[in-house]
Amino acid sequence: SVERTLSIIKPDAVAKNVIGQIIARFEGAGLKVIAARMMHLSRADAERFYAVHSARPFFKDLVDFMISGPVFVQALEGENAIQKNRDLMGATDPKKAEKGTIRADFADSIDANAVHGSDAPETAKAEIAFFFPEINIHSR
Ligand code: CMP
Repeated sequence: SVERTLSIIKPDAVAKNVIGQIIARFEGAGLKVIAARMMHLSRADAERFYAVHSARPFFKDLVDFMISGPVFVQALEGENAIQKNRDLMGATDPKKAEKGTIRADFADSIDANAVHGSDAPETAKAEIAFFFPEINIHSR
């Protein structure tokens, strides 16, 4: 079915100037950008967005990294968008990511791993709402 998912191009990939190359992969797989914004997250934003990980040992490093530079946030729409985006991204740890995936090609480490993507329909809904009020979403 047609789904929406949230994608974040992280500070490492923005710094590498590969926003366009990553978006081209989404578009090539049939995902449409229906909302987008470039922003520099505050610490409070990043802590709220990743609240589910707040008890994990990597939380502080994750937040520090996500506020280290601007990010490019998008809502993507398409058939099976959540899984399709996860397949395009590859494994969280770029050392384990399959050849040809975004993380295998652009990521440096488990923190500087180029992209974030929603992992399930409920999180996709919450994550899209976190960044985009409905009026800024342009499904067509
Ligand atoms: P992301 O999909 O943005 O969700 C949480 C992030 O935490 C993850 O990508 C990684 O960049 C980062 N992270 C760091 N260490 C770990 C770990 N051990 N397991 C999962 N995520 C981790």
